[in-house]
Amino acid sequence: MSGDGTAETTSIEDVSVVPRAAEITREAGARLREFFATGVETEYKGDVDVVTVADRTVEKLIRTRLGDAFPEHGIYGEEGTRERLEGEYRWYVDPLDGTTNFAHGFPQFCVSMGLEHRPAGTKPDEDGMLVAGVVYDPMRDELFTAERGRGARLNGKAIHVSPVPALAEALIATGFPSRKRHASPNIHFYHEFTLRSHGVRRAGSAALDLAYVAAGRLDAFWEFNLNPWDTAAGILLVEEAGGRVTNFAGANYRLKSDEILASNGLIHEELIGLFGDMFAGRNLAPIPTPQAFAQARKSREQTTEGTR
Ligand code: IPD
Ligand code: CA
Ligand code: CA
Repeated sequence: MSGDGTAETTSIEDVSVVPRAAEITREAGARLREFFATGVETEYKGDVDVVTVADRTVEKLIRTRLGDAFPEHGIYGEEGTRERLEGEYRWYVDPLDGTTNFAHGFPQFCVSMGLEHRPAGTKPDEDGMLVAGVVYDPMRDELFTAERGRGARLNGKAIHVSPVPALAEALIATGFPSRKRHASPNIHFYHEFTLRSHGVRRAGSAALDLAYVAAGRLDAFWEFNLNPWDTAAGILLVEEAGGRVTNFAGANYRLKSDEILASNGLIHEELIGLFGDMFAGRNLAPIPTPQAFAQARKSREQTTEGTR
């Protein structure tokens, strides 16, 4: 704090934090657009976990710009940046959320940056408080911003979560991991939620999914095993837009949580109930196995042939 009790220039009380971060994500997004237009080669981090020169170049750009703008803030980036993590403020940066889409020319990806306040005494494994978040979709030129206590915005206009009151009327979203895919049970949840809602989208960018919940375009989003760089900005967007973010049991969300459930708040309890039922194996909706389906199809064909 300065002598007169007001905040220092780079603290979150200074409204210029979000505008400056927004400028940085716009510049980063413009670089992604250029790479997208020319096409980039894909490398593999794991079996199907891809990374491109765009991910690395844009993280480097963001690291430099954030370092210039907020020299005492820490940075924790997906592509390996670990700087000043002992600081009171920490940016979680995903320079390109939706790399698989990007690499295939599917125009659904974004830049995501969330700022956490970690007051002195916060233990290394403890969460601080998310205070600012910016998600930028360079293909649609959509900038989602949030500041703790000041609401969420899309291109400067206030946004709110949807008023949809029940899962049966909801459009929801999820994502699947690109590592250890065989260990994920999510396809079962995808199936169950699909049968109980207007549909489940799997668009491939968790940060945009969260931003869409904030904007009322989606009514809920869940995923297993995301990382803080995927979720930090989006969580604040959802909360500031009036929604709720927890784990699948309804407990407070933690940045290193293995599960995230974000919603408009109105359908949250219903979703938690369904997760509980599913983990306990209760009330599951049966669908035919491919074998049973093939058998039924064969019987139908035989009956039709017999009546010709
Ligand atoms: C991925 C995307 C995707 C989600 C994956 C993430 P990346 O991030 O957010 O939607 O399903 O779990 O890893 O690798 O494109 O930055
Ligand atoms: Ca990501
Ligand atoms: Ca990424």
